[in-house]
Amino acid sequence: MKVSVKVPATTANIGPGFDTLGMALPLYNTVTIEETVLPGTGIDINVIADGIAMDEFALEHIPLDENSIVYKAVELLYNSIGQSPSELKITIKSGIPVARGLGSSASVIVGALIAANELLGKPADDLALLSIACELEGHPDNITPAFVGGLVMSSQEEDGSVVYRKLEWPSDWAITVCVPDFELSTDIARSVLPKDVPLKDAVFNAQRLAMFVEAVHTKDAELMRLALKDRLHQPYRMKLIQGLDEIMDAFKHNDDVYGCVISGAGSSILVISNKNNLENIQNEVRDIWTSLNIKCDIKTLSVEQNGAQIVEE
Ligand code: HSE
Repeated sequence: MKVSVKVPATTANIGPGFDTLGMALPLYNTVTIEETVLPGTGIDINVIADGIAMDEFALEHIPLDENSIVYKAVELLYNSIGQSPSELKITIKSGIPVARGLGSSASVIVGALIAANELLGKPADDLALLSIACELEGHPDNITPAFVGGLVMSSQEEDGSVVYRKLEWPSDWAITVCVPDFELSTDIARSVLPKDVPLKDAVFNAQRLAMFVEAVHTKDAELMRLALKDRLHQPYRMKLIQGLDEIMDAFKHNDDVYGCVISGAGSSILVISNKNNLENIQNEVRDIWTSLNIKCDIKTLSVEQNGAQIVEE
């Protein structure tokens, strides 16, 4: 038996929503798990590039052994029903750039769990899978939209359960995703964050996150302009993303742009704007990165409303 699951990319944080907000984007990984007939073959993991995840987007950094997050996800699910995985061929068709803050690890965790659960006859329901996935990833902001699609706010409670609600992204707001040719691992990007933050910074983010939710509900672009700020992670990560300072400065006085934020832990950047002059916005980022000898892939994308889905491969 063989099961394939197609899972969207995600962008997390989106300004003030550190570890809380995330949004699915129309780039995909497909995880296929196949039971093999030869006993003793163990778990064989393969990665194939699909479209955007070209050589320069570093597929070789995905571990293919028991350190693989896919292996861990499958093992955890099998162990939860008292079994061990064996004789499985896992193939990841990768269309999401790796280590760029676009949820590639969340997508393979979600894909692997859904596929393995299907192979096992569905011992876990969706909420249980979501909770296992967040436990593995360590935070719910990429996992939840990868699983359910759309723009989502989520939390993982002390008992491990995940609470989430979808928000509706205003259809006339554009999301421009700017992916540089350099990687930034989430581990490194999290290692620069302080363990504690000043109370005034926590209050600043609480205020902006409340504004964000109200801004999307009421499609209030002026409120969104105030909301797309952060003091919990961006100030510490600025130095890890070359050109980010200049790019943010360039957009400060651009009336079309509501905000420019780090996508997840980086290295990609999101520019949120109205739908006028999108080419100018793309060129602005491209020009700054090109002047720093950084190649990039820049696309204006819509929100992917579908989450992970079982597909025929
Ligand atoms: N919220 C996470 C972070 C997303 O910023 O570290 C990356 O996994």
